[in-house]
Amino acid sequence: MSSDNEQQLPTEAELAEMDRDQLVTLGGKLDGVELVEYPDPWPVGGTRAEKRAERTVALWFTIAGVAGLAFLVAMIWWPWEYEPFQNSDGHFWYSLYTPVLGVTLGVSVLAFAIGTLVYTKKFIPHEVAVQQRNDNLGAGSDEVHRQTFAAHVADAGSRSTIARRSAIKRSAGLGIGMLGLGATILPLVGFIRNPHAESGTKDGLYHSGWQAEEPGQKVFVRRYTGKPHEIVLVRPEDLEAGSMETVFPFKESERGDSHALSAALKRVDNPVMLIRLRPDDAAKVVKRKGQENFNYGDFYAYTKICSHVGCPTSLFEQRTNRILCPCHQSQFDALHYAKPIFGPATRALAQLPITVDPETGYLIAKSDFIEPVGPGFWERKS
Ligand code: FES
Repeated sequence: MSSDNEQQLPTEAELAEMDRDQLVTLGGKLDGVELVEYPDPWPVGGTRAEKRAERTVALWFTIAGVAGLAFLVAMIWWPWEYEPFQNSDGHFWYSLYTPVLGVTLGVSVLAFAIGTLVYTKKFIPHEVAVQQRNDNLGAGSDEVHRQTFAAHVADAGSRSTIARRSAIKRSAGLGIGMLGLGATILPLVGFIRNPHAESGTKDGLYHSGWQAEEPGQKVFVRRYTGKPHEIVLVRPEDLEAGSMETVFPFKESERGDSHALSAALKRVDNPVMLIRLRPDDAAKVVKRKGQENFNYGDFYAYTKICSHVGCPTSLFEQRTNRILCPCHQSQFDALHYAKPIFGPATRALAQLPITVDPETGYLIAKSDFIEPVGPGFWERKS
């Protein structure tokens, strides 16, 4: 602040007496601002052009609000669960879930931005001012500058005539409300569904597709041939020593049911690495306490879902018997109950107990995994 300006500062009593126009003028003077032009955007009120501008702004804000509402509704109620291709109706609606979310949110944000731009262009006074540069040398503003600045902002708002434009105010409130609600609800949606609500069912986090649906039901080890409806079961002699194959569960109840056969290949916790160790390596195996009989001879079955953040651990290095996760390079020792020996993973891969069905000679699961597969989650005990 220059010494010239300091001499012109009003007293506190004078400041208190000043109206907003005087404060705006004073603020300009103190800051060395010369208002070259300060036109009223609508000098004649109530013209058709003014009303048209108001309706345009209100329309954009309303579009933003309606699109925001559509986003919320779609996020909560749109059918998002996977439907196989064979169910053409269900698959069609499911496949639209992500595009609908993107389009509704995008339209809402875009319409709100356009509404704000149009409002600024049509209703905020477009002043032309010249100001001498003054960086204040880092000192804070004193009371007179705070008051004149607040008056200036209030004056701009007042001149924009927002106070008497209820259509714009209401539509802007709708737009902001819906966008704000969406931004608030988005991170909360994950909490709406209790992950433990279905703990005891086959769809719960503690179960996989390897769980028998009824007592005595056999869950066979199935090879994936590239044809979702082809059923090829696995016998021990089908794998060579030192090899690994990704396998999936199969239940006789699924035979002929194309939906169930396809879903078994897609369910995230179903893929299992079936590993046949070489006899020399099998002799060195260290088994996990309580899981001493989970293998069948030289055959070991580990979940393919990494215990770090759930990528598929698809690489098995025969020479070192290491299982590698390509996402963050975790390595698991297949000779040591697939415990992690390198990388960010901290838990062993869950092991599936397997044996051979004495009636058919095919490999089967003795039970489901005894712990949840994949990454950790709240209240997980293993
Ligand atoms: S998901 Fe496997 S290492 Fe990160």
